[in-house]
Amino acid sequence: MDVCFTPDEVVPSELQGRIAVVVDVLRATSTIVEALANGARSVYPVASIEAAVRLAQNMGRDQVLLCGERRGLPIDGFDLGNSPREFTPERVAGKSLVMTTTNGTPALLATTAAQSTLVASFLNLSAVVAALAEAGKPVTVVCAGREKRVSLDDAVCAGAVALGGERSPDLSRGLPDTAQAAALLAGARLDDLTGLFAETAAGRQLIDAGLGEDLEFCAQIDRHGIVPRFHDGQITI
Ligand code: MLT
Repeated sequence: MDVCFTPDEVVPSELQGRIAVVVDVLRATSTIVEALANGARSVYPVASIEAAVRLAQNMGRDQVLLCGERRGLPIDGFDLGNSPREFTPERVAGKSLVMTTTNGTPALLATTAAQSTLVASFLNLSAVVAALAEAGKPVTVVCAGREKRVSLDDAVCAGAVALGGERSPDLSRGLPDTAQAAALLAGARLDDLTGLFAETAAGRQLIDAGLGEDLEFCAQIDRHGIVPRFHDGQITI
């Protein structure tokens, strides 16, 4: 088990033969999990607004929902932003989503060299932990971070994955430094996730934008039992 605290730490050749687990708690991976659990058919993560619009046009604009954010806010002309609360069954069931976000979708796209890529958040923590245990392969958790820097919400979630859903950081002894560091953070801060998020830069940006309810939403542990996988340019369950 290794942890990259930002996508810049990913060395593609080192992902070969490993399972990558991408984490962007506030909010891209939480939103992807919520969308797929609510019946979305697939999510196509793309790097830029232009690429998202192009892909949507190629797929048939009325066949897809364009979603994502810049600076936390919905993008002009898009159908949905990046608040998981928007991705209700009424809005997304049966739909394909094309998504671009500031840090989350680039983190997903950084893992294409991995044998497989799973999408994790607190919303589906235990399901991801169980899938990793079953696969029995080496794992690299890739945190989206925030603008190339460490984000505490992602690091704590990575630590929770490293601890296999347990609470004791002792269980991480013998793992690489990165995984032990993440596990120590998880051991110290798992008890009040909403409070923790409110202290992070990502959380404060959402509160300032009037989206503070997303913090509580993304702090729900095991709301869903699904394990989204990123393959062939799309994420499905
Ligand atoms: C991102 O990809 O940077 C985020 O998910 C940001 C957000 O949702 O506001």
